[in-house]
Amino acid sequence: MHISRCTVGIGLLQAIRAAHAQTAIASTTETPAPTTATVTVVDVPTATATTGAYFPPVGSIEPDYSAEGLDELWNVIGSVEAPPFTTTVTPTASVALPSPPPPLYPAFFAPEPKDILPQYKFPAGFKYGVATAAYQVEGAVKDEGKGPTMWDWASRQPGGVADNTTGDIVDLNYYLYKMDTARVAALGLNTHSFSVSWSRILPYGAADSPVNQEGVDHYSDVIDTHLEYGVEPVVTLFHWDTPLALQAYYGGFTSPKIVDDFINYAKAVFSAYNGRVKTWYTFNEPRVFCEQIASYPFNVTYAAGVNTSTAPFHCAYYLLKAHAGAVKAFRAMNISGEIALKNDDFVGTPWRANNTDDAEAVERHAAFQIGIFSDPLYTTGDWPQIMKDTLPEEYLPRFTDEEKADLLGSADFYAIDSYRSWFVSAPDNGVAACVSNTSDPNWPQCNLNMVYDAQAGWAAGVLSDPGTDWLGATPDGARELFNELNRRWPSPKIYVSEFGFSEPFENERTQLYEIKQDVARTNYYMTYLGEILQSIHEDGVPIAGIFAWAMIDNAEWGSGISTKFGIQHVNYTTLERTYKRSAIALSDFWAAHQS
Ligand code: NOJ
Repeated sequence: MHISRCTVGIGLLQAIRAAHAQTAIASTTETPAPTTATVTVVDVPTATATTGAYFPPVGSIEPDYSAEGLDELWNVIGSVEAPPFTTTVTPTASVALPSPPPPLYPAFFAPEPKDILPQYKFPAGFKYGVATAAYQVEGAVKDEGKGPTMWDWASRQPGGVADNTTGDIVDLNYYLYKMDTARVAALGLNTHSFSVSWSRILPYGAADSPVNQEGVDHYSDVIDTHLEYGVEPVVTLFHWDTPLALQAYYGGFTSPKIVDDFINYAKAVFSAYNGRVKTWYTFNEPRVFCEQIASYPFNVTYAAGVNTSTAPFHCAYYLLKAHAGAVKAFRAMNISGEIALKNDDFVGTPWRANNTDDAEAVERHAAFQIGIFSDPLYTTGDWPQIMKDTLPEEYLPRFTDEEKADLLGSADFYAIDSYRSWFVSAPDNGVAACVSNTSDPNWPQCNLNMVYDAQAGWAAGVLSDPGTDWLGATPDGARELFNELNRRWPSPKIYVSEFGFSEPFENERTQLYEIKQDVARTNYYMTYLGEILQSIHEDGVPIAGIFAWAMIDNAEWGSGISTKFGIQHVNYTTLERTYKRSAIALSDFWAAHQS
């Protein structure tokens, strides 16, 4: 049922006068030439200052599950900024949506949200919501018994984050979740996909280490609050915030030891929230995560025998085993609901028509970017053949028959973070020459993302903020992407588990009326949602939910708070939230298209 513009909510922010301000510095990344996801082939000693980052040599901190042991872990981080308040804020007044913004364009030029494909409705039970992740919104990183994470560390390394944003406070959703949930409900949206922080549940991460009851109770109340407001909680177990303890003890996801520790953590979360959460993800964007740990500043923290070239693939191997083990436990424990992991990226379109090398490059792109975590779950139980043909076993560990059996079928649905879809081309020297030369700068992927067409060099999409050179609005490619996913990795149900847009130069806007006028983001959502409706109704693709990234502005990893994805603005002095135009458009679209 639609609950739009109702009187749930709050009015508390006037009470919050945080003596806290974060400096926002626009980052200056250049618009990319052809890009590739190729991993840098450079070996970095385990703990050096060659890049400016420092991490204690892996294994040099012994597991010690005492208060002193936790202090020792926090000492790796250094000092942490305390939040301006440390109690959960209870909304005291209702959330009033602003009066509607004036139409953006004359009707002859572009329809209003309600007039876009009015003949099409979302199917019954459709999840129409927003998404966030613990590190990016919670703040309060050292409160209520939490252990440090690798992002608490990475954000403090020189150059680790463009504007030096840490997760210490950001949106302080840890204490403001009641208000944030009320504001989602007031828009009429019915779902929020968020992540649980492993090191809040298990501060030392490990299977034989103690559970932090305060952390368990916190998320329990977060979940109950969502249910009270009629906003379904969708939970991700891991959104890139590896417990620092596990990195220090044995090298995190570059070690086989991570598998049992993750399964133990998953079981703790399943049993704590069983029955109240119906849709679960084990891992968020594992492909991006495993490439992240191969790059600065994470490239100083590997298990023995792993280097920057092999780290992404060893990570993929252990992560998939951890996923399969967690799903096995989920089913053995009879946890209610459905589970999968969140893929990301796109299949791609050949850059030059009728070019066989570009067609092959698309296949390589599909294999390395999506197939790597999809073939094992949905089609073969194994890596894509292209990857096995390219990567020797020292890079890509091979699955045993038993592992393959555990992996195949270990997902109840398909989830894709489908932000954009680019052209893909062969490298200049051709696919074959690249594949046969391990020193080629484009090896092992041997394909390039092209953001402009091959004919006249027109941009393939609407440009995003310069801080996100990987992103453009490419709604024209959306249906093809969903069709390809449906064809290649069939599943009864697809969630668009994240999509969203960084408004160009939003960080340079100082007045609220400018910030609220997020026209590029609004157009992104309206065009994508129209394409999604057509996918469902004209192509028969079983899309069952969409999740707008993000519920609020947040810490965008290496770009910090300078690059904005929120449908709500956050004032980083007062922590006040303000709906942008895109939030209202999303609300209007849902009001007009829900069945
Ligand atoms: C996907 C990631 O899951 C999320 O953490 C990130 O902020 C968005 N992409 C935008 O880059």
